[in-house]
This record gives sequence, structure tokens and C-alpha cells, in this order.
Amino acid sequence: MLTLDFSNMIAREGRTGDARAAIPEAAWTAAAKRFGDADAALRRQYADGVLGFLDLPGNAALAAQSTKFAADVRGRFTDVVVLGIGGSALGPIALRTALRPSGWNMLGDKARGGNPRLHVLDNVDPVTITALLDRLDLATSLFIVTSKSGGTAETMAQYLVVRDRLEKTLGSERAKAGIVLVTDPEKGALRAIARAEKIRVLDIPPNVGGRFSVLTPVGLLPAALMGIDVGQLLAGAEDMRKRCDSTELAKNPAGVFAMAQFLADTTLGKHVDVLMPYSDALRDFAAWFVQLWAESLGKARRADGVHVGPTPIAALGATDQHAQVQLFMEGPADKTVTFISVKDEGTDVAIPARHEDIPELAYLGGHRLGELLDIERRATAGALAARGRPNMTITLDRVDPWHVGGLIMMLEIATIHAGALYDVNPLDQPGVELGKQFTYAMLGRADAERARQEWNMLPKADPRWSL
Ligand code: PA5
Repeated sequence: MLTLDFSNMIAREGRTGDARAAIPEAAWTAAAKRFGDADAALRRQYADGVLGFLDLPGNAALAAQSTKFAADVRGRFTDVVVLGIGGSALGPIALRTALRPSGWNMLGDKARGGNPRLHVLDNVDPVTITALLDRLDLATSLFIVTSKSGGTAETMAQYLVVRDRLEKTLGSERAKAGIVLVTDPEKGALRAIARAEKIRVLDIPPNVGGRFSVLTPVGLLPAALMGIDVGQLLAGAEDMRKRCDSTELAKNPAGVFAMAQFLADTTLGKHVDVLMPYSDALRDFAAWFVQLWAESLGKARRADGVHVGPTPIAALGATDQHAQVQLFMEGPADKTVTFISVKDEGTDVAIPARHEDIPELAYLGGHRLGELLDIERRATAGALAARGRPNMTITLDRVDPWHVGGLIMMLEIATIHAGALYDVNPLDQPGVELGKQFTYAMLGRADAERARQEWNMLPKADPRWSL
């Protein structure tokens, strides 16, 4: 089960306090009609064929590309490296942290069940790349080059560096055998390379964008290689897709999540949405969500060009109780916090009763670490609510492929609903374009002449204002 408790978002009768601290019940009731419009917009987009991520759980042929590839190469590779950035990288990282045992890359071969380690670059920092390539055995490493567009500068640069290194170390044919591409079925430079050089390639459906692509080979291939049950991941996603097919807000978890965040932002001034799992396994899942929510919703409104969108923040319980929670409790009242709670962590540790004469320690003995973690979450949620800080809690029975698949699907659908509510296109990212064009201009790309001109016109750093 995956449940969503949003009681602490609603100003219930009998609760006193600041009127802007929670959504009035009447406003929530009225939101049901508004949800109907958002849901209709989602259905229209689906009919138009642009929400390909909704079809992924039912796309057995696509899933088989990953599972078959993983089965074919089983036992051949000690290390898998994803070359990619943004939506091509954050999904695989989140899946590894959530669904493989803690410290996966530090475990020995036996503890990993013969499955490879997974490294995901997600940047072009030369220090990280040099260190990784220096420590890998290139002969037993598989490089997955992932790019939907097939031409992203960072990923292509990573690829060029890796390809060169592989060829110099292993020779041309063995280098090719250590590379697999994941990209659009038709378009882009990676597809052209795959065709020209007969390098193995897996497909990202044309109607699935980067940040919605974790259930394509972008996430499924690394997952299958690491021995994660891809079938369960998709089954959980499919179950959630069906739940979110309801036109009734009260029965639609994605709709509730989107609507609660939207109303809190636009009627209560809660512009910041914190996602705070109380589980180390979900730490990187929060980073995946941050990209999904930020890149999808932070943009100019279609109707009038006004800039809108919530600011997502990733936090981790209980760690952030000693860092960001002070801000959440007493800083500007501009946030909602969504906790993720896990009922069964699969393991627990008894806290031994020692130093029973010291009151600061004595109360801990006889409890368990998992119990402490969960009680701290409940205490933090209650404390925030008591101080007029709205919050909600998603509860998973376990962090397993089924639940993670469901959570992914819920938040992806919520993003589309939120796009309709904010009146923005959640599928594009025009705001990153100008920076890309300036980069091309400075690197001398031939088709960046206009950007070069604009760049040259920009006021440069003024010595009076720098030191
Ligand atoms: O969500 C998105 O579309 C982006 O964050 C992309 O994932 C990112 O820019 C990488 O793009 P690509 O997969 O085309 O290399």
C-alpha cells in the first residue's frame, strides 16, 4: 500500500491559528471542480500522444529490451557507468539508492549477487571523471550513454572522453562492445552513431521526455543490470496509474498531491515544497523529485506570461532535523513539507539499555532505531502542524520495486496535474535554452552565431563591482 495523509494541510474545524496556515475545508471542497478541469487537460494531452510515460508500465516490449540485454551480459561486467545528465541520470541514481542494499558500490561481488556496481556521472567535472576512469577496470566495465535528444553537450563530452579512453586501452572493437546507447528511436547524434557503427542501442519513446523517463531503458537498463526486479517496478507504477485514473479528486493520490501543493502556494503563500523522506534509501529519490517538479513547473504562465512555479527542496529525516528543520519551523512561513514514511524498513536495531543512571541516555534503551526514526518523523510533522506549518505524509509499506514504481508514477502524474493548475507546459524547459546557446557560442559551435552576438553584447564584469 501507498497512502497519502494530507490532514495537516487542511484547516479543520476547532483548530485555531493563522488563517493562512492551512487550506480551509471549503476551499478544498471547491477544488474538486477545479481538479476536474486539470484532469480533463491531462486526458487531452494523453489523447494527443504527449504523455508517453503513462504507457510505460504496459510496454512489455520496451521493458524486455532492458531485461534481455541484462540477461545477455550477465556476469560480464563488474561496473556499469551511466553517462548522462538531468533526467538521464537522476532516475538511475534514485533506483540504485532505493532498491539496492546500502553502500552497493562498496560491497564485494558476492554480496552484490554477481551484479555490477553502478556509477552515474551526471556532470562533467574532470576530477570525478578522471578518478572514476582511473580506478575502473575498463575491460569489465559497461558504459551506458543516455541522452533522449542524443546531443546534450555534457553527455556527448563524457562520451567522447570515454570512447577515446576505451579505444586507447582496449582497441576499437572491444571499446564498442563496452558501450550501449540509450536514446530516441530515430533522431539525434547518438542514434546516428549507433547506426553508422553498429553499436547496441535501446529506445526512449519519442513522447517521453528526460525527467519522465525513469521507467524507460534510462532507468530500467541500469536497474535490470543491478538485479532489480523491473517487472515489480512497472507493476507498482501500473497500479498507481490506475488509481490516478479516477476523475474524483478524493480518490486520486496524484491529484490530491498536486492540488494541495498548488492551493498552498497560490492561496496561502507556501511557495516552497519540501520532500523529506525518513529513509536513507529514499534520499536520492527526493533529488529526482526536485528536478521533476522544478524543471516542469517553474516557467511562464501560458495565459499571461507571468512567471510561476513552486520551489522544491530535498531534505532527509532525521538528519535535517539538525539542519533545515529550524528553517521549516521558524523561517518564513512559505513552505509545505511532504514526509515519506516507510512502515517496514526490513531491518531494525535494538538500542541497548546502558548508562541507565544518565537520564539523557536512559530513555533510549529498549527502543529500536527504526522506531526512533519513525517517532521523530511523527514528532516533526506534529510540531510543524502545531506551529501552523502545513505538511502531509506519504506512507509506503516498504521500499521495494513495487512501491517505488508507484511513487514514481504518482509524482509524475501529479506534475502533469500541477502543470494544468499553474497553466504551464510541464513537458518543456525553454528556460535552460539561452544558457545552452551561450555555451555553444563560447565553444565555437557553428550554428550558434546569434547567441554569439547576444553574448558579445552583454555587459561584462565591472572591476568596480568585483574583488
Ligand atoms: O528533463 C529533461 O528533459 C532534461 O533534464 C534532460 O533530461 C536533460 O537535459 C538531458 O537531456 P538528454 O536526455 O536529451 O541528454
